Amino acid sequence: MMFTKWAQLLLLQVGASSAGKDPQKHKDIDGFEKQCASIASKLEVESATVYFSQFVPAGTNLSLPENNVTCGEPFQVVPVDICRVALYVATSNRSGINMETWLPSNWTGRFLSSGNGGLNGCVSYPDLAYGSSLGFASAGANNGHNGTSGGAFYNNADVVADFAYRAVHTGVVAGKKITEQFYGSPHKKSYYLGCSTGGRQGFKSAQDFPDDFDGIISGAPAISFNNLTSWSGSFVPITGPPGSPTFVPTQLWPVVHEDIMKQCDLLDGFADGILEDASICNYTANNLLCGINSNSSSCLTQEQVNTVNKIFSPLLASDGSLVYPRMQPGSEIVASFVIYTGVPFPYTEDWFRYAIYNDPSWDANKINTTDFENAARINPSDIQTWKGDLSAVQARGSKILHWHGQMDGIISSENSPRYYEHVSQTMSLAPEELDDFYRYFRVSGTGHCSGGDGASSIGQNIDSVESLDPKENILMALVDWVENGVAPDTVIGTKWVNNNKSDGVEYKRAHCKYPLRNQYKGQGDPKDIASWECVE
Ligand SMILES: *[C@@H]1O[C@H](CO)[C@@H](O)[C@H](O)[C@H]1NC(C)=O
Ligand SMILES: *[C@@H]1O[C@H](CO)[C@@H](O)[C@H](O)[C@H]1NC(C)=O
Ligand SMILES: *[C@@H]1O[C@H](CO)[C@@H](O)[C@H](O)[C@H]1NC(C)=O
Ligand SMILES: *[C@@H]1O[C@H](CO)[C@@H](O)[C@H](O)[C@H]1NC(C)=O
Ligand SMILES: *[C@@H]1O[C@H](CO)[C@@H](O)[C@H](O)[C@H]1NC(C)=O
Ligand SMILES: *[C@@H]1O[C@H](CO)[C@@H](O)[C@H](O)[C@H]1NC(C)=O
Ligand SMILES: *[C@@H]1O[C@H](CO)[C@@H](O)[C@H](O)[C@H]1NC(C)=O
Ligand SMILES: *[C@@H]1O[C@H](CO)[C@@H](O)[C@H](O)[C@H]1NC(C)=O
Ligand SMILES: *[C@@H]1O[C@H](CO)[C@@H](O)[C@H](O)[C@H]1NC(C)=O
Ligand SMILES: *[C@@H]1O[C@H](CO)[C@@H](O)[C@H](O)[C@H]1NC(C)=O
Repeated sequence: MMFTKWAQLLLLQVGASSAGKDPQKHKDIDGFEKQCASIASKLEVESATVYFSQFVPAGTNLSLPENNVTCGEPFQVVPVDICRVALYVATSNRSGINMETWLPSNWTGRFLSSGNGGLNGCVSYPDLAYGSSLGFASAGANNGHNGTSGGAFYNNADVVADFAYRAVHTGVVAGKKITEQFYGSPHKKSYYLGCSTGGRQGFKSAQDFPDDFDGIISGAPAISFNNLTSWSGSFVPITGPPGSPTFVPTQLWPVVHEDIMKQCDLLDGFADGILEDASICNYTANNLLCGINSNSSSCLTQEQVNTVNKIFSPLLASDGSLVYPRMQPGSEIVASFVIYTGVPFPYTEDWFRYAIYNDPSWDANKINTTDFENAARINPSDIQTWKGDLSAVQARGSKILHWHGQMDGIISSENSPRYYEHVSQTMSLAPEELDDFYRYFRVSGTGHCSGGDGASSIGQNIDSVESLDPKENILMALVDWVENGVAPDTVIGTKWVNNNKSDGVEYKRAHCKYPLRNQYKGQGDPKDIASWECVE
């Protein structure tokens, strides 16, 4: 109780002078710091080994030497005063998670779990910073192994199980306990924020651990995971290696991109280089075929035309059933540096070698329909994450905000409406009925989880925040929906000049709730939100 009281005291002191000049606040911070130092030895969390607890004052550039080098930047700026707790929680006798909770001094009573990305293996420190800066007691785990590779899956189905479902759930159970033991009262509402693999983890929670969260944000979810991994690997046989006649070099992809814009940019009523709804663009590259006198740096050979057309076609199994939808047009420049490179996609290689076949000699260059079918059938620990029945979420009143960038170059955004429709059919609920607990937004001009050519900043992570207004911040929109019953009909995104926040706002755009799509009204400044409308 005592510590909830300090959170209230701090709240009352908004705008007061700095801790150094304010004896009361200084005392509060001293108390918080002492409580933090002593919590490590008092925590009671099942199967856990607590490494340390540590007070970290606001503004600290926290160095993270123990973070695996493949995880990226080994430091994180901490925006608010926190108590940082690090621990290990065993999930079996040969597996476990490393996790942290960041407990802000100014706690709102909310709990937030973050997720992971790709095949990692990396605590998402930026999400811990983001959540704690907004007053959430925030937890994040390493998903059961260290680093970005899938090597740890080899001959260890328990590490695969952690990755598929167990790490997040274990981290949530432990994180909520730590939150309660630290503040002296349990959390009031529990939230999840994740994108990519993190988006899949959000849906895994909704499908299998519906009591874990009152609200879930699932961005660009890597659902139908085995099939996605097959699809990511399917481009090597299509393009062939660099230099082969079927290969389309990176210099030619901007030419394809321009041709796509020529064919499809006006479908939403305005040609601004942004496809509001990429799914209605039926692109073929046939117009780019080189003629007798054409300039070979801006046209394609017949083999290259075939390559591009295959890339924009759905991936099928040997019996003609769908493995994974086509890549949505618009993302090709980025995708050409990631998945159309003519070399195996690392996640595909690792997933098949270490989780599907347990065979480090499996050759990703030769991936074929047999592999697609094997992966879907073996489906380790049901990582597919494709259950269409979300009735437990609906019954307990939890809310799901699902979103996907319309120029995602790594996970095709066309898989997201496919899942939405799957839920709709499984539960026999029309979109108006799903609206009660599950809403999906197509976020135009946005790449994989962030970035892109359009209004891509929706508060999905600490670097993509224009505002904390729920209309413009998807995390705060979720809070508003869960706690006040105010559900979002659009999510406003911001495009910054040069994609740099310091350079100011170029425009904002309201992204529509599926199945509606965004259309220019035909008049008015296209940079003005009001010049656009959500239509059938
Ligand atoms: C934090 O520290 C790292 C390495 O010491 C440095 O590269 C980075 O610029 C620092 N960040 C800030 C915001 O000071
Ligand atoms: C993973 O990293 C943590 C530090 O973040 C370390 O304590 C742990 O020993 C590492 N685990 C393995 C299996 O290397
Ligand atoms: C580990 O747990 C499994 C059951 O999950 C059990 O069969 C095995 O004997 C245990 N191994 C050790 C070394 O305790
Ligand atoms: C505490 O949180 C509230 C909102 O939850 C915020 O308005 C206030 O600025 C925060 N105060 C401090 C000292 O961080
Ligand atoms: C760091 O990650 C890489 C790639 O996932 C892994 O091979 C390596 O063992 C990890 N190192 C440690 C010390 O955990
Ligand atoms: C795309 O193809 C579908 C199915 O063939 C068709 O219904 C639709 O009108 C086409 N869209 C455009 C913009 O040509
Ligand atoms: C061919 O196209 C490239 C790129 O569009 C351009 O830079 C080059 O000048 C063109 N060459 C000719 C001979 O037109
Ligand atoms: C796929 O490749 C494997 C191994 O190279 C081979 O055994 C199998 O027959 C192939 N399947 C098809 C449909 O070609
Ligand atoms: C995955 O691919 C298999 C074909 O290998 C297909 O039967 C199945 O429906 C697909 N599942 C999903 C969830 O996309
Ligand atoms: C963003 O803009 C600011 C101010 O114009 C500039 O100082 C900074 O270098 C820019 N950042 C990047 C990454 O370009």
